[in-house]
Amino acid sequence: MSEHDKIVILTGAGLSAESGLSTFRDEGGLWAQHRIEDVATPDAFSKDPALVLDFYNKRRAQAAAAHPNAAHYALADLQQNHPGEVILITQNVDDLLEKAGAQPIHMHGALASALCFHCENRWAFTGDMHQTTPCPACGRQTVRPDIVWFGEMPYCMDDILTHLETCTLFASIGTSGRVYPAAGFAQLAQDIGAQTIELNMEATSPQFHARRIGPATDTLPKWVSDLLQR
Ligand code: APR
Repeated sequence: MSEHDKIVILTGAGLSAESGLSTFRDEGGLWAQHRIEDVATPDAFSKDPALVLDFYNKRRAQAAAAHPNAAHYALADLQQNHPGEVILITQNVDDLLEKAGAQPIHMHGALASALCFHCENRWAFTGDMHQTTPCPACGRQTVRPDIVWFGEMPYCMDDILTHLETCTLFASIGTSGRVYPAAGFAQLAQDIGAQTIELNMEATSPQFHARRIGPATDTLPKWVSDLLQR
């Protein structure tokens, strides 16, 4: 078994790319099709809630129809079979890691969840969200996607920082490392002496101690099998 007793993994849109879900900054990605300020900020939602709800309804339907790929299953395998702790932090809002049997921390929220901006109730949600969708707790029509928009604080940051301060290995998988605070996690891990590795289609930063370049469905199963020393 690997010598690492606590592994922290950060995943991004590249993990779900081979399941058919668009990334953000690759050619033709989501931010080539939509302006962030139109669909992914609190101002956007107050200006044109129908447009924002439609953007997330389409992504929720695509994610619901998607299937986990070999990379998702490899991470579930690692989390279930590694002797030490394996903390999976995802920037992704799809539920493909859950469908593969993993238990991720969704720092940017989840498409399969709804949030009431009146009473802050959160509930599992499928299908299309409308301005008239009532909150099951307070009954008001004050529902929004349970997504962390630009300018909002990511979820679970206290827990995430505690995990980063105590890990022995940090892996960054399928993320361009362009959005903070996630983009700063590798440096935080490195500062406390953890080994760091990047598994991505291209190198995003020289700071990683190790790197495996290629599609996640190829690099991840091999990396997990090395860690589990099969
Ligand atoms: N296998 C591995 N990596 C891949 C694959 C693949 N099949 N396809 C693409 N990638 C890599 C790309 O090389 C790129 O570095 O995945 C990364 C995707 O980067 P982004 O599109 O920027 O997505 P991400 O890093 O997850 O974005 C972070 O930005 O817009 C916000 O909230 C949004 O969570 C998102 C955050």
